[in-house]
Amino acid sequence: MVESLKFWRHKRTADYNYFDYIRVSTLELIVHELKNKNVGGEMAELGVYKGKFARYFNAYFPDKKLFLFDTFRGFDNRNRSTELSNEYSSTWQDFADTTIDQVLNSMPHPGKCIVRKGLFPETAGGLEETFCLVSLDCDLYEPIYDGLKYFYPRLVKNGYILIHDFNNDSYKGVRAAVEKFCEEENINVVPLADVCGTCIITR
Ligand SMILES: C[S@@+](CC[C@H](N)C(=O)[O-])C[C@H]1O[C@@H](n2cnc3c(N)ncnc32)[C@H](O)[C@@H]1O
Repeated sequence: MVESLKFWRHKRTADYNYFDYIRVSTLELIVHELKNKNVGGEMAELGVYKGKFARYFNAYFPDKKLFLFDTFRGFDNRNRSTELSNEYSSTWQDFADTTIDQVLNSMPHPGKCIVRKGLFPETAGGLEETFCLVSLDCDLYEPIYDGLKYFYPRLVKNGYILIHDFNNDSYKGVRAAVEKFCEEENINVVPLADVCGTCIITR
């Protein structure tokens, strides 16, 4: 079998109550590319909640730092007002039932995790790192736009930014933020057919 096709045969242990096949297998393919090309740079997720997606990053790359950005108290009212006034989302979901300890205890390599608790982008100061793999899964217009502004210039060549909910009608601010940013930077996205409509930006 062609080496790269071995990917399709291996047994997966993903939690399919929480993730769908396309999301998880696309991440696996991206990890394969990053490892094959030995891409440098660290990893980050903005919008961690209980760490279920970030856990994969930490498991796949035990030697890379993983920056975890979240309020760990759910959505902040400063972001909520923009959502409501633009009718992007109702912000009804509550992501407050998590703790940093719970997230770190779920990680296979917690020593590589750096937690940045609070409202992004206020929590992004003072980092020198560049990034090869970033997940923006914070649902709302403002942090998605701020996340792109922050991480895209710090994305290494051959790196990836995954933006969850791009094609999700329940969170219309995500698409609005991505489209604004892409227009400004003259870049494009690859939309995925996963359940919540992730899109991908690469360099
Ligand atoms: C859908 S959840 C993330 C799900 C997570 N990626 C997973 O694997 O299950 C969205 C998260 O974004 C966080 N969030 C939203 N706006 C934020 C902001 N401005 N700063 C920091 N965290 C934010 C919320 O606290 C919430 O935990």
